[in-house]
Amino acid sequence: MDKIVIEGGVPLKGTVEVSGAKNAALPIIAATLLTDEKCVIKNVPMLRDVATMLKILRGLGVKAQMEENRVVVEPLRYKQCTADYKLVSTMRASICVLGPLLAKQKLARVSMPGGCIIGQRPVDLHIKGLQALGARIKIEHGYIVAAAKQLRGGNVFLGGAYGSSVLATSNVMMAAVLARGRTIIENAACEPEMVDLANFLIKMGAKIKGQGTPLIEVEGVKYLHGAVHSVIPDRIEAGTYVLAAAITDGDLIIERARIEHLSALIDKLQQVGISIKAQKGAGIHVKRRARLLKPVDITTLPYPGFPTDMQAQMMALAAVSDGISVITEKIFPDRFMHVSELNRMGANIFLEGASAIVKGVKRLSGAPVMASDLRASAALVLAGLVAKGKTEVSRIYHLDRGYEKLEQKLEKVGAKIKRVKE
Ligand code: UD1
Repeated sequence: MDKIVIEGGVPLKGTVEVSGAKNAALPIIAATLLTDEKCVIKNVPMLRDVATMLKILRGLGVKAQMEENRVVVEPLRYKQCTADYKLVSTMRASICVLGPLLAKQKLARVSMPGGCIIGQRPVDLHIKGLQALGARIKIEHGYIVAAAKQLRGGNVFLGGAYGSSVLATSNVMMAAVLARGRTIIENAACEPEMVDLANFLIKMGAKIKGQGTPLIEVEGVKYLHGAVHSVIPDRIEAGTYVLAAAITDGDLIIERARIEHLSALIDKLQQVGISIKAQKGAGIHVKRRARLLKPVDITTLPYPGFPTDMQAQMMALAAVSDGISVITEKIFPDRFMHVSELNRMGANIFLEGASAIVKGVKRLSGAPVMASDLRASAALVLAGLVAKGKTEVSRIYHLDRGYEKLEQKLEKVGAKIKRVKE
């Protein structure tokens, strides 16, 4: 297994380019199951999760290939409706084939995703939403089995204990586009990745209004055709590089980053003492304003609130700030596996329920640490970039799920980072 070795303390300088958004690419690739025609998806990041999604499609009898950052899918009237159990269980996001398969094949069998390291991941909202469209759903031999001869439009409020759900909204929207009549989704997720999915579906001939707001309206159509689409830049990857500049006292231009997708993060970073400016064209310029970073209080929330997918990385920054920060997790209350690893590097963080109290320290010190999930791994890399001495991050297959060419991109802007075989 590979690990990442970082020699910390180098301020990052230069330009780093953001790849396409993983969380937009995955449901968009799943949405190609709604048509019989060829689709071309561009700006797809080359990541393990994308490879897994393509394998799931091939397992369904669909022709799906990736060359560089371009995915070509040719469904060719595929017949299967069962998504491979093993593949689905390796990636929670594969649940987003449920809606398209049900709408197109009238029957879908997708394995029940288990809990994962960041906490319980229920599927009740996916089920509730599809039932509102007339689907009959049962759990059988570890599979979610959904069936409906003809889905019909319906009204559904998609709110759970922690607010809206990104993939449940995606699933219901993808099923509704081929349902008979009108569907109203209330408390819909507003994430930019949802909007990108809706825009792709519209290119395929779907009738959708309200994407990006909590009320989405879908008027079902009989048939969707093929489409060509370019995936939006990854705001979480962009945010991670913003923090890499901030934590190393660097000076980075993050090319292609969309500033309008990063408002919650930027607002907090301005309070901390980081200057962030939009570049002409696309991209942002990040630089520290003050020598000492101010502490900051953060609560993760659905978009446009502070993203849970940036919580771990922000904690790495708070760990070296001058004061006490409180970071509260309101989406996945158990998502704190990075705390003990950051403490291993000399951070001073303790947990109080769903909040982390972060007492800033002057410096972190490099150590062997273990990644537990995708964003926790990114936080450990950030900590390693600023820590004194050598940090070794193992189990980096998590990073390969979500960051395209991470070490190459960081190396290009001056980081002393390499991937080695363990
Ligand atoms: C997506 C993102 C993930 C991000 C998360 C929250 C993808 C591929 N993944 O995951 O990176 O961390 O949004 O922004 O886009 N919930 C229920 N019932 C359900 C479904 C979800 O209660 O049926 C809860 C979850 O446990 C969580 C909250 O709703 O507390 C939000 O989760 P959700 O938005 O569904 O996450 P995902 O869509 O799986």
